[in-house]
Amino acid sequence: MNILVTGGAGYIGSHTCVSLLDKGHKVIIADNFYNSRKSTVKLLRQITSKEIPLYQVDVTNQSAVNKIFSEHQIDGVIHFAGYKAVGESLEVPLTYYWNNIISTLVLAKASRKYDVNRFVFSSSATVYGDNEVPFVETMNPLPTTNPYGETKAMCERILLDFSRANPKLSVALLRYFNPVGAHESGLIGEKPDGVPNNLMPYITQVVKGKLEKLKIFGNDYPTKDATGVRDYIHVVDLAEGHVSAIDHIQKGAHVYNLGTGRGTSVLELVKAFEKANGIKVPYEFVSRRPGDIAICYADASKAKREFGWTAKRDVIDMCRDAWNFENQSKSLVEYK
Ligand SMILES: NC(=O)c1ccc[n+]([C@@H]2O[C@H](COP(=O)([O-])OP(=O)(O)OC[C@H]3O[C@@H](n4cnc5c(N)ncnc54)[C@H](O)[C@@H]3O)[C@@H](O)[C@H]2O)c1
Repeated sequence: MNILVTGGAGYIGSHTCVSLLDKGHKVIIADNFYNSRKSTVKLLRQITSKEIPLYQVDVTNQSAVNKIFSEHQIDGVIHFAGYKAVGESLEVPLTYYWNNIISTLVLAKASRKYDVNRFVFSSSATVYGDNEVPFVETMNPLPTTNPYGETKAMCERILLDFSRANPKLSVALLRYFNPVGAHESGLIGEKPDGVPNNLMPYITQVVKGKLEKLKIFGNDYPTKDATGVRDYIHVVDLAEGHVSAIDHIQKGAHVYNLGTGRGTSVLELVKAFEKANGIKVPYEFVSRRPGDIAICYADASKAKREFGWTAKRDVIDMCRDAWNFENQSKSLVEYK
C-alpha cells in the first residue's frame, strides 16, 4: 500500500516508515520539521535503500494536504504530526488545540475527498486519566490534566464520528504507552531540544555528561519502590504495531493499546540501563511533577488478539539501543 505518514521525520514516525518499507509498503512523508530534521529523511533512505517522496508542508494547510493526495494514489494515512509536550500545552493551549485538532480535521477531509479509507491515529494512554490499571480499551476515557491530553481525546471523538458517517472507513485509534529506544542502526532515535521531558533521553544525556544528574520526580508513590511506574515500549515494537494496524484494521473505528502490559518503575529502568550498558546513572530525588500519575500500564491483549501483534523487545534492548543512538548521533552532524 501507499501510506501517507504525517510527522514521518519525527521519533515514532521515522521508525514506522522503516517498518512499513521493510514490510513492502511505500511511504510518502509530510512534515514541517517543527520538531525534527530534514536530514532524518535522508537517513531513512539510507537505512532502507528506498525512495521516499517528501513534502515539507504544515498539515493544518488544507490545500497543501490536498495537493499530496492529488499527486499520489494513497491507500492509507498514519497521522503522527502533532505537538506532544504536556507542560508546554498548559502554557500555549490554543497552539496545541489548533495544531493537533486542525491537522486531524484537514487529513480526514482530504481522506474523504480522495476516497482514502484507512486512517491510523496517534493517540495516547493519557486519555485513560487515572483509571485503575491495567488500562483496557473498554474503559471510558477520563478528563486529562492538560490540553495535550484533551486534544487526543477530542481527535478520537472526531474520528469516531467520521467513521460512523462513512461506512467504508477503517480507523485505528492507537493509544501509545511510553516509547523508548531507537533503531538498531543507531541512526534514528529520540533527540529532543533542551532538557528532555521524557525519562530515557534524560538518562542518556546525563550519562553523556550533557546534564549533571537525573532528576527522579517523586519517591513517595504507592508503588513497589516508591517511584512512578510506566509501560515502556521499544519504539521499533511500536512502529511494527502500526504496520499491523494498517494491514488488519476492519471497518469502523477501533481503539488499541500499544504497550507491553508490563509496568517498570523509574528506578528499575535506571538499573536496567546500568546493566545493559555497564555505566552508572547519577540521580537524585525531587518532588513529584504536577499531573503525573503513580502507575500506568496497558492491557495489551486486544492488539495481540486482533492483529497478532505483541511487543518483543525488553527493557535491556530499549536501554542498549537508546544509548547506542545517543553515542552515534554525533556523526549526524554531516547530515545537518
Ligand atoms: N513520544 C511519546 O511519548 C508519545 C506518546 C503518546 C502519543 N504520542 C503521539 O505520537 C505522535 C508522534 O510522536 P513523536 O514522539 O514521534 O513526536 P515528534 O515530535 O518526534 O514527531 C512529530 C512530528 O510531527 C511534525 N509536525 C508537528 N506538527 C506538524 C504540522 N502541523 N505539520 C507537519 N508536521 C508537523 C514534527 O515536525 C515532527 O516531525 C504525536 O502525535 C504524539 O502526540 C507520542
